[in-house]
Amino acid sequence: MKTAIVQTNPVFSEVKLNIQNALEMMESVNADLYVLPELFNTGYNFIDGKELTCLAETSSGFTVKEMSVFAKRKSCYVVFGFAEQTEKIYNSSAIVGPGGLIGVYHKVHLFYREHLFFAEGNLGFPVFDLPIGKIGMMICFDWIYPEAARTLTLKGAQLIAHPSNLVLPYCPDAMVTRCLENRIFTATVNRVGCEDRGGIDLKFIGKSEIVSPRGEILTRLGDNEPGITVIDIDLSAADNKLATEYNHLLNGRKPSQYRLPHNNM
Ligand code: ACM
Repeated sequence: MKTAIVQTNPVFSEVKLNIQNALEMMESVNADLYVLPELFNTGYNFIDGKELTCLAETSSGFTVKEMSVFAKRKSCYVVFGFAEQTEKIYNSSAIVGPGGLIGVYHKVHLFYREHLFFAEGNLGFPVFDLPIGKIGMMICFDWIYPEAARTLTLKGAQLIAHPSNLVLPYCPDAMVTRCLENRIFTATVNRVGCEDRGGIDLKFIGKSEIVSPRGEILTRLGDNEPGITVIDIDLSAADNKLATEYNHLLNGRKPSQYRLPHNNM
């Protein structure tokens, strides 16, 4: 399964331009699955909820339509982050395919000032059983809670598509551990560039990567420039959960020993 990671440099609020730039990069390669950053269409650093309300779209809005047109024309799948207007506004990722929208995920673990504007995710961690494989989604800071990747693994995900806007330095290396402990593939796709807005200056660290179930970094992009790369991976490698012939990593879990006082699990 050819997986493309699409590291972009969005300009805040320039939705059409950001989509056009991403599509130009995506046109330059052939893949079965393209993964884009978190909030790739709007940019990240909202000053207030009013700005977010202006830029949020529904799951039948412009961005989902544009990505669906690409997916239909190229017979492929695309995962991307966007601000989703429902009765609340979520930091969402969508997966679209040749037939249009397949599903959305609402970011569960909000980061930093996202707490001021976005609602907390309420859909759990869905896994989509597609012709290309079993694909789960999480968004950026979800990485720091091992429960997110573990839940997706226990639900059968072979690859976690991980749209991100990373500013802290830890995630790219930490994903090696997420992959090793779950024996899954991850495609962490970050953006580059800076957003200095309302006195809050954020620099995004790039280093988008695909990591294998053995913890190998199959490809990693740079920290400064947009870029795209495609890796052909065999998702069935994620079905072997044996660390040794005696250690099946999922069957070896001991939930009875993880119980906390007051059943706070
Ligand atoms: C993040 O969750 N955007 C760091």
